[in-house]
Amino acid sequence: MVIRILPSILSADFANIQRDIEAIAGADGVHVDVMDNHFVPNLTLGLPVVESIRKATPALLDIHLMIENPDRWAPAFAEAGAESVTFHVEAAHAPIRLARELRSQRARAGMALKPATPIEPYADLLPELDMVLIMTVEPGFGGQKFLDLCLPKIERTRKLIDASGGDIWLEIDGGVSVETIERCVAAGADTFVAGSAVFAADDPDAMVATLRDLADA
Ligand code: DX5
Ligand code: ZN
Repeated sequence: MVIRILPSILSADFANIQRDIEAIAGADGVHVDVMDNHFVPNLTLGLPVVESIRKATPALLDIHLMIENPDRWAPAFAEAGAESVTFHVEAAHAPIRLARELRSQRARAGMALKPATPIEPYADLLPELDMVLIMTVEPGFGGQKFLDLCLPKIERTRKLIDASGGDIWLEIDGGVSVETIERCVAAGADTFVAGSAVFAADDPDAMVATLRDLADA
């Protein structure tokens, strides 16, 4: 299985985003958390900042939209040059139409699930998707504790993805660290967001390598 490590710049220094992205050169890309203070109780950054990040780095941009009405906003992030755009299915009004629109813009289309949202009602959507993001904390903040209760859902999602036969990444977001990444791999995940674990480390790039080694073992 190909393992991907995508550090979340939510835990980077927002005054030095370019510097902090350059400090994780061994990563597979950068995870960008967009929050609107409605879908989640926090406010981060939006389209103009993503457009500037796009100009500042060739790294794969993995946009995680924690916003209401992603149908209205997600395509603009694909238009800005993000390789992957993920919307929360709890917020999307027309997830199939939105996923098709993102793909027509040549972005990977991702669907995110909060910890209490089951995968089964959305299993039929898998052929429309390039990624499923399973939140392993309640979305909104970095540095929270990993929720083990999400592990069975990761296993069930892996089975559904394998049955679908598609090239669908299974991404885990929230509390990923040296303590938890192996449990996620065992459950079937292949793509990992890590915010505080990477950017609080003395050497962020070495932590990316450590997480990859643990996941690849
Ligand atoms: C939380 C965000 C995450 C966050 C993860 O709502 O979606 O991407 O940055 O941070 P850690 O890895 O510290 O849990
Ligand atoms: Zn995220």
